[in-house]
This record gives sequence, structure tokens and C-alpha cells, in this order.
Amino acid sequence: MKERLLELKEEALRKVEEAEDTKSLQDIRVSYLGKKGPITEMLRGMGKLSAEERPVIGQLANDVREEIANALDAKMKKLEDIALERRMAEETIDVTLPGRPVEVGGPHLLTSILEEIEDLFIGMGFEIKEGPEVETDYYNFEALNLPKGHPARDMQDSFYITEELLLRTHTSPVQARTMGAKDGSEPVKMICPGKVYRRDTDDATHSHQFTQVEGLLVDENVRMSDLKGVLNKFAKQMFGSDREIRLRPSFFPFTEPSVEMDISCKMCNGAGCSVCKGTGWIEILGAGMVHPNVLRMAGYDPETYSGFAFGMGPERIAMLKYGIDDIRHFYTNDIRFLKQYHKV
Ligand code: PHE
Repeated sequence: MKERLLELKEEALRKVEEAEDTKSLQDIRVSYLGKKGPITEMLRGMGKLSAEERPVIGQLANDVREEIANALDAKMKKLEDIALERRMAEETIDVTLPGRPVEVGGPHLLTSILEEIEDLFIGMGFEIKEGPEVETDYYNFEALNLPKGHPARDMQDSFYITEELLLRTHTSPVQARTMGAKDGSEPVKMICPGKVYRRDTDDATHSHQFTQVEGLLVDENVRMSDLKGVLNKFAKQMFGSDREIRLRPSFFPFTEPSVEMDISCKMCNGAGCSVCKGTGWIEILGAGMVHPNVLRMAGYDPETYSGFAFGMGPERIAMLKYGIDDIRHFYTNDIRFLKQYHKV
């Protein structure tokens, strides 16, 4: 029995020595020291031994168990130490390594230009108003003096959803809504930036979806000279104080008289060049005095109230300001194009 115990001990210690992971150590512990292990088994058979032999073998069996348990513990600790060391080596952070660059984004050029336009008009006391992009025929056309069948509706080819609903073709309906929400005596001083939609074929200067900023001022005694003053201030702040403006007669159904505003060409300073097609001027927006019918439909008495309105395309403003030659750049999202206009 004694030999058998010593043999078991040798065998177990050898296995502990050879074990390479904690799982095998667990297995060894269970198979040698567990309730069904050979040593426990032998202790159960001790009853057959003589009275002298019993304490000797009992002592030995305990010693063997203890030795195996100690060897297992020591090996377990060793393996854990090795694993810890390996992990520490793997997870060492070299604080001297350069970090991965974090790319900082920036607002889209169109967002920046819209904000710039908004800021200029907020500075002149205008409020910002917004309205729905899916608009009723009434607000998009009728309330703006464009009854059904009016030929001037053709100026704005539209995406209809139903007979009465369409994607707004301009932001003017927001003006009609804003006036209509007042009681017919409150002054209005607002701009409305937003997306608009027209059934156009996309090319360098046309897009089926683009943005507009329109403005409206209604009060007593509003005159054409007020319009000119506001537009002049806007143009000089946006394009530089050396720019001149001029108003040319034009036609819009919702304004009378109507004008288009040009600014003097920056490239040639008015002398005429390819950018301004030899004229010295570049058109930037439409405007006019609000038509009495539009005031009346919104509940304002045109005998007492008058107003001016204007509308511009921020894409066109940005194209002129930064010399961009194709409106599609705003929508195709080529990051190389957009990055040039990120303000740091
Ligand atoms: N709504 C016009 C357009 O989209 C622009 C405009 C607005 C013209 C206000 C005059 C006055 O073409």
C-alpha cells in the first residue's frame, strides 16, 4: 500500500509538472484528490489493515495528499503569474506613439451660406420663419395671386402629389402663411429659408431641388426705397462694400412693380468679362412691392399697408461668392469639394 501511495504521488507530481494550463491542473486535482480518486479509495480500504499499520499508512496518505495539493497550488500560481505577465506585456501602452488623427467635420457649404444670409437679415431685424415643404396649391399659388390656370404658373414647373398638394416651388407660401396668421394690422418682417422643388432637368445651373431665402416686410408706408436700402446693405455685406447694385424691371405675379437685382461684376469691376457675359452685372435675386391682391388675401388692407418681398437662391449666391461653376457640386457630396469650405 505504501508503494502504491508513493507511486501515485510520483505520478501526480509529474503530471502537475507537465501541466500547461489551469484546466489540466483542475483535472489533476479532481482525479487524484477528488472523492472518487485513488487515494480516497485507498483510505476507504484501511479497515483491512493491522492496528500498527493503520496510523502509518493514514499519515502517509495525508502527507501525499498534502504534497500533491501544495504542488497543484504552486503550479497554479506559477501559471497565473505567467498569464498576468503576458497580458501586461501585451497591453502595454506606448504613450510616446503618435495618436490616430481624429478627422473633424464641418458644416456643408450650403448650411454655412444659409447661416450667413440669416445672420445678415437677423442683424437688420428680420425674423426667421419656416413652413412645410409639402404645400397646398392655395398657399403655393393662389394666395400669391396665381389662380388656377394662370399662365405664370408655368414659370415654376411643379411636382404635384394630388390636385391640391405639391412640393413647394418657392418659399413664398411661408410668407402667405405668416401674413395670414396675423390679424391684418401687425407688421411683418421675416425671412424664410428652406428647400424648394421644381420639375427641372439637372445641369450646371439647374437642380430639381434647391434652396431659397425669401424675405417680406409689411407695414404702413413701406416704399420701394426701403427695399432698395435693405438689398443694398445685404449685397455689400455679402459680396463686399465695393459692389454696386441695380434694379431692373421684371415680372412676378405676387409683386407689382417687380424687379430683378444685379450686382456689379467682381471679376471686371463693371467693365464686362466672360463671367458677367460682357454686361458688367450679375443677376442675384428677384423682388418687388407686394401685390395688393396678395395683401388683401392675407387680410391686410392695401390702402393702409404696403410691403416688399424678395427671393434669392443661396446656391447661386455661394457660386458667385466662391466662383463655383456647377450647382450639382452642392448635392453630389464630393468630400474634396466640401472640405475646401470647412471653416476651421
Ligand atoms: N418666389 C420667387 C421665385 O421663386 C422669387 C420672388 C420672391 C420674387 C419675392 C419676388 C418677390 O421665383
